[in-house]
Amino acid sequence: AAAVVTGDKKVMLAAPRGYCAGVDRAVVAVEKALEHHGAPVYVRKEIVHNRHVVDTLESQGVVFVNELDEVPQGALTVFSAHGVSPAVVSQAAERSLKTIDATCPLVTKVHREAVRFAKQDRSILLIGHEGHEEVEGTYGEAPEHTTIVNNPEEARTVQVQDPDNLIWLSQTTLSVDETLEIVAILRERFPNLQDPPSDDICYATSNRQAAIKKISSACDLVLIVGSANSSNSVRLKEVALEYGAQRAERVDFAHQVDESWFEGVATVGLSSGASVPEVLVQDVLTLLSEYGYGSVEEVVTAEEDIIFSLPKELRAEMKKVG
Ligand code: F3S
Repeated sequence: AAAVVTGDKKVMLAAPRGYCAGVDRAVVAVEKALEHHGAPVYVRKEIVHNRHVVDTLESQGVVFVNELDEVPQGALTVFSAHGVSPAVVSQAAERSLKTIDATCPLVTKVHREAVRFAKQDRSILLIGHEGHEEVEGTYGEAPEHTTIVNNPEEARTVQVQDPDNLIWLSQTTLSVDETLEIVAILRERFPNLQDPPSDDICYATSNRQAAIKKISSACDLVLIVGSANSSNSVRLKEVALEYGAQRAERVDFAHQVDESWFEGVATVGLSSGASVPEVLVQDVLTLLSEYGYGSVEEVVTAEEDIIFSLPKELRAEMKKVG
C-alpha cells in the first residue's frame, strides 16, 4: 500500500470524461467496416489517438498506415477522426481506394469554415499545433490563406497579409484558456480580427477541461488516462496543474501508475481524454482501491447527449446489406 496519509483517502472522479461522440463514431465505423468487408481494413493514421484502441483494432485485422501509398490499389481505407486535407482525398481517388471518412463532424465544420473564408479571400489565423493531423487537414483546405499560430509567443510575432480582413479558427482540442489568451494577443495587434461564427474548440474538449478545473484544487494528485499524442488528454494534465493540483500524471494504462506518486496523497482526481475507453479508467479505479483509495465521489459538471450518425458511405452500405 502507499505511504501513510493523514485524512481520508478518496477519489474525485471527473465527469464528463472519456469518449466523445466523434471518437465513438470513428471507432464504430472501423468495427462495422471490418464486419462488412472482413480484414484487412486500412486506416490512414491512428483512427483516434489512443494506444489501447489502436492495438485492439490491429489485433482484429486493421492495418494502420501513415500515408496512402502504403495501401494496395483499390483497397478499403478509413480516414481518421482528425480529418484529411483535400490532397489526401485526391490521392485516394488516384489510387482508386474505396474510402470511409470517419472525420469528426465538428472537425469537418472547421474545414468548411476555412474553405468559405478562403473563397472570400480573407486571411485565416489557425490556432493549433503544427504537425498535429487535425491541423494538417484544416490547413490543407486553404494553405494560401492560412497561417498557423502555435502558442502565445507566435501570436506576438505572426505577420498577416491583410490585417483588416482577418479571421481566426482553431484546432478542436486546445486549452480553452490558452486559446482565449492567444486571441486576446492577436486582437491587440490586429483590432479588426474577426471571430469564427461558432466555437471551434468542441463541446467534449471544453466539458472535460471544465470538470478538471472544478476538482483540481482539492486534489493532491490528478491522474489523466490518455495517450501521449492525444492533444485533449495532454491538455487535461496541464489544466489540472494550472488549477491547483499538487501533482498531475498522464498514463495510458493502470500498470503505468507509480506507487511513489501517492506519498502524502489524500485526494486523487481522475479523468480521461476524449479518445479513452471507460474500461481503462475502471482499471485505474481498481488499482486505486487496492492502494486504499476505495471511496469514490463522481463530480458531474455537465451532461452530454450528443450522438453522431455513422459516416454516409457506411450507412449506404449497411442499407444495401439490409
Ligand atoms: Fe470531435 Fe471533439 Fe471528439 S472534435 S472527435 S467531438 S474531441
